[in-house]
Amino acid sequence: MRTVEIPASRPYRVLIGRGLLSQAGELIRAVSDAGTAVIVSGEHVYPLYGSELERALDRGGFRLLHWVHPSGEKHKNLETYGKLLNYLSENRIGRGDLLLSLGGGVTGDLTGFAAATYQRGMDYVQIPTTLLAMVDSSVGGKTAVNLPAGKNLAGCFHQPKTVLCDPNLLSTLPEREYRSGCAEVIKYAMLCSPSLFRQLQTASAWENPEQVIECCVAIKRDYVGQDEFDVGIRRYLNLGHSFGHAVEACSGYACSHGEAISVGMAMIARAAAEKGICTPDALDALLALLEKYKLPTETDIPLDQLQRAVLSDKKRKDEQIHLVVPETIGRCRIIPVPVEELRDWLRLGGAR
Ligand SMILES: NC(=O)c1ccc[n+]([C@@H]2O[C@H](COP(=O)([O-])OP(=O)(O)OC[C@H]3O[C@@H](n4cnc5c(N)ncnc54)[C@H](O)[C@@H]3O)[C@@H](O)[C@H]2O)c1
Ligand SMILES: [Zn+2]
Repeated sequence: MRTVEIPASRPYRVLIGRGLLSQAGELIRAVSDAGTAVIVSGEHVYPLYGSELERALDRGGFRLLHWVHPSGEKHKNLETYGKLLNYLSENRIGRGDLLLSLGGGVTGDLTGFAAATYQRGMDYVQIPTTLLAMVDSSVGGKTAVNLPAGKNLAGCFHQPKTVLCDPNLLSTLPEREYRSGCAEVIKYAMLCSPSLFRQLQTASAWENPEQVIECCVAIKRDYVGQDEFDVGIRRYLNLGHSFGHAVEACSGYACSHGEAISVGMAMIARAAAEKGICTPDALDALLALLEKYKLPTETDIPLDQLQRAVLSDKKRKDEQIHLVVPETIGRCRIIPVPVEELRDWLRLGGAR
């Protein structure tokens, strides 16, 4: 088992290892004295792993309840959140009990937000079941649901008690979801790890998924540890996301998060290369790596539409947008771009 310590205001461990699901009872008991554990899971994931988790939790001496939500980003909303809170109150769940997210980023964000707000806050544990959730969304304490006006507009910071990553759970993940997670892995490599980038270029990159997951979580730890509340250096983790979120929203979420981030990274790198900020070799290598993982690097969403979507993104500050821009493989910088120059960046990124 691999362990990454997250030095947040409330420190915790991310545990990574094959077969961890069956040890969840003991591992979670070590960080929680809760009487009741409520498993929150999606309609696809619960039938796959719910009973194995319940057997394991039983061994940890928890009283168990479960609540299952419909799958998909469109259900990460106030309605689902309200239903979950009502379920908790109807079942007399108290602040000393525990929520357990068993699922991808949708389940994790929803569970975390419910845990942060139910009775002014209770503990929760993340058991991520997608690659994206293992390398990204389960770590760092960002919780949220979407509003009609945009993604993650209602949310807060609330760190989990622990995160259990069991790569065996990825065996049932649909190919497209797996590739979506790979986009975030490539993001970490492009951001700060030439060695991870080189590894991803090889055929044997995923021989040991625990090692790749640990590497990504350790990178996220370094940013979260310095800037838990996302007011400074943590913004580097948004590489590919300023344009990517716009692509995701404009596609009506037909494009998965990872696919949109892939397009977003390709666009910002292309624009940066045109402006002489990113080296041509780094751009070529990034595009080749995204293509190797069968991730999209272009979009046919019209420039006007993308521009509007980027400007409505919550990360806009005053009359500037802060773009995370690659310089070479493993090095990026943040550039404040006046909103009137945004169109130029999008155009150079390939939008028409
Ligand atoms: N909190 C954060 O820091 C953070 C960071 C990145 C992304 N996010 C959020 O994460 C969400 C995306 O997460 P995601 O990509 O995990 O999507 P997801 O949770 O929707 O899961 C993707 C799909 O895979 C299915 N699935 C999950 N695990 C499975 C498994 N093991 N086997 C078979 N099917 C499985 C789900 O039912 C779903 O249909 C977005 O809402 C995004 O905003 C949050
Ligand atoms: Zn992301």
